[in-house]
Amino acid sequence: MSTYILAIETSCDETSMAIIKDGHDEIATVVLSQMDTHANYGGVVPEIASRMHIENITLVAEEVLRKANMKMDDITAIAVTYGPGLIGSLLIGLMAAKTLAFIYHKPLVPVHHIAGHIYANNLVRQLEFPLIALVISGGHTELIYMKEDYSFEKLGGTLDDAVGEAYDKVARVIDVPYPGGPLVDKLAHEGKDTYPLPLPLDDDSYNFSFSGLKSAVINLVHNEKQRGQDIIKENMATSFQNRVVEILTKKTLKALKEYDVHNLIVAGGVAANKGLRERLTKECLANDIHLIVPEIKYCTDNAAMIGAAGYFAYKLGRRADLNLNAKASDMLH
Ligand code: KG4
Ligand code: ZN
Repeated sequence: MSTYILAIETSCDETSMAIIKDGHDEIATVVLSQMDTHANYGGVVPEIASRMHIENITLVAEEVLRKANMKMDDITAIAVTYGPGLIGSLLIGLMAAKTLAFIYHKPLVPVHHIAGHIYANNLVRQLEFPLIALVISGGHTELIYMKEDYSFEKLGGTLDDAVGEAYDKVARVIDVPYPGGPLVDKLAHEGKDTYPLPLPLDDDSYNFSFSGLKSAVINLVHNEKQRGQDIIKENMATSFQNRVVEILTKKTLKALKEYDVHNLIVAGGVAANKGLRERLTKECLANDIHLIVPEIKYCTDNAAMIGAAGYFAYKLGRRADLNLNAKASDMLH
């Protein structure tokens, strides 16, 4: 018998629900983005995000069932992102999940947001183990070793800013509107690598650091301003992106080699980055590595990925009761 997971994701500024069959078949997904609203403020405003989740969540629930042509009776279990994320936003999704689980007597499965990003790849193709996951988003930059389903061993992570955060901050400094990441990526394809930016934390560890690179961009922008000049945005975007892609690729390839792994998956919002996708595709081809990157729509926050991860968590017997609480931060486990 098939397992149908109704998944709920509200950790940031997307209200999303999905129905996923057996961890890989997307039956229906609805994503209501609040990006246009937050763009007015140059970033996500937590109080506005939670209020909008409240307004949208019932509509999204009705819409996902309608789209799937299913009833709550057809659902096996409810999976929900419990963290990490914005507390107020997470709480709305949790409340919806608990209410549905209680009323319809369904098991409640807690899902870590990053497990979701990783399992977005299972919607593309069944994961093969062992694998290395490069998780890169607005809140995370991590290299994770997985020897089997739902086993996560962190090899290293960022010591300061997450890579997406660095993109968003650099975007602001070079006057690129919110959301910065995708626009800097676009500009990077139009410019030349002319600015002398450092390769950040180029050492033997699997850790990353992006605050120094960000400061170097800020300093260059200020220096040019003092001389009464403006930087060339496209060239700064290319120079910045090249350093980021270089260090991410270098440490990821090192991990694949050291752990003798031939499967690489990339996860999180920054997995949408075209420069990185191109570079990794090329390197993986040359090094006999099997690369999986999710479709762009599964890179940024969505409930389909939570439904895919939720299936494996459900199979492993992971359950929560109605005391399940939101966690702003939590180790992936
Ligand atoms: O995974 P996500 O949607 O939310 C978090 O869980 O953080 O990731 C959002 C982050 C933002 O920082 C955004 O600027 C970045 O992903 N991002 C990109 C691109 N698309 C989204 N960064 C670089 N290049 C892109 N194409
Ligand atoms: Zn995310």
